[in-house]
Amino acid sequence: MKIILIGFMASGKSVVGRMLAHLLETPLIETDERVVAASKRQSVKEIFAIDGETAFREMEIELARSLRSVADAVIATGGGAVMNKIILDYLRANGTVVFLAASFQAILQRIRKENTRPLFTDRESLKKLYDTRLPLYRAYADAIVSTDGKPVAGIAEEVIRAVSKS
Ligand code: S3P
Repeated sequence: MKIILIGFMASGKSVVGRMLAHLLETPLIETDERVVAASKRQSVKEIFAIDGETAFREMEIELARSLRSVADAVIATGGGAVMNKIILDYLRANGTVVFLAASFQAILQRIRKENTRPLFTDRESLKKLYDTRLPLYRAYADAIVSTDGKPVAGIAEEVIRAVSKS
């Protein structure tokens, strides 16, 4: 089984991905983590700061290309994966794309607590990005699972049910 999790920053892709990988006894591939590992940098933030966003997107595309033959895994993508159709095209072959949908409020609350996201500067620009991306997540999704107020295990079970149906 191959599940590709998409969604905005802090929508829970990594944490739900971990739970899914555990329940399904399948590997978890976190694209942000892999991109950092393949780079000379310590973090996504550092890649953005030193190499720039375009370089990060190119690394993301290259990684997705290298993953195209993966058959059995949970793949947790970065929130910007939908900005390049080629990434989804590489990742979704023989897989099911699940959009983890979270409200802007829930996302803002989580992001404010952290300091790891290079694309977060202020509420207004984050909201703009959210509104631009929302239709893309919906368009790529084979299934949509909303996450607000739900425990991780419940979300993971919903994802599994949605994937078995689609
Ligand atoms: C990004 C989201 C991040 C990371 C990078 C860019 C985005 O991943 O890939 O900072 O464009 O939304 P998360 O969704 O895990 O925060």
